[in-house]
Amino acid sequence: MNHHYQNIIASIFDQIKAEENPGAVAAYIPELAHVDPNLFAVSLKLLDGQSIDYGNHNTGFSIQSISKVLLLCMVYKEIGEKIWERVDVEPSGNPFNSLVQLESDNGIPRNPFINAGALVISDILIDLYDDPSTAFLDFVRDLTDSVSINYSDVVTESELKNGFRNAALCNFIKSFGNIKNNPDDVLRLYSQICSVEMNCLELCTAFSFLANGGKKTSDQKQILTKSQTKRVNAIMQTCGFYDESGEFSFRVGLPGKSGVGGGIVALFPGRYVITVWSPKLNPKGNSYRGMKFLELFTTATEESIF
Ligand code: DON
Repeated sequence: MNHHYQNIIASIFDQIKAEENPGAVAAYIPELAHVDPNLFAVSLKLLDGQSIDYGNHNTGFSIQSISKVLLLCMVYKEIGEKIWERVDVEPSGNPFNSLVQLESDNGIPRNPFINAGALVISDILIDLYDDPSTAFLDFVRDLTDSVSINYSDVVTESELKNGFRNAALCNFIKSFGNIKNNPDDVLRLYSQICSVEMNCLELCTAFSFLANGGKKTSDQKQILTKSQTKRVNAIMQTCGFYDESGEFSFRVGLPGKSGVGGGIVALFPGRYVITVWSPKLNPKGNSYRGMKFLELFTTATEESIF
């Protein structure tokens, strides 16, 4: 099995690397624009811990919106189904930072993976912990079994200085009563959570419990129940790529999540987690090479959840 995946990954990696790499690195957070656009890495991790790594897989990158899945899991674990009183589970069909549906939806974000939804969940996190920023980092370090995972202060500050849309979203939601804390505190925590840096293998490790019925693969600690795990994966399947979620599902057929740092993580329940990182984004804000790689990968393996 491992050997089979290895050959497929090597051949797709080489094919894509030889092709043109259109798109652009995210520049609306200026600090993200400093990354080398040609970096390209893939890791696949099986549930028994074996992994296959290719390209610049030791280089850490800004996981950005991928962090929203870990944020959801942490708060879902703490407060259970009550979370759905504050955020819905419908695909938005709109860009990640859109404001338009909030007015008619009375400040209830369509799902936890658009910025509006992740801001509301960050707000809940503030009410749950004295030091929510440290608590989130501890949660992520535990999932990755790595104490070296950290926030990037420069990326956090860069986002906060330029995050006018997120500030608008947060204040707008507060006007409906669905943000309880000071918007400045919510925006800071949210931006910090997005600034977490990891390499491809670390990201695979962080997501392994979602491919393993909610249990960490290293020590079998139950993070989410099986039912909760199914629900998080279902939301990734339907909402993980914003207004390109249908396209990703159609082409790749796995639950996954993207970030504007150019990372994409996808998983096959019961089998593996795969992460692809390439910073240049397509017009919908998803990694051009990441989308392409995963489409070719599930086509070649003839394995998807469907
Ligand atoms: O709020 C933002 O704009 C970023 N911190 C996260 C956006 C993001 O990664 C959207 N992803 N594709």
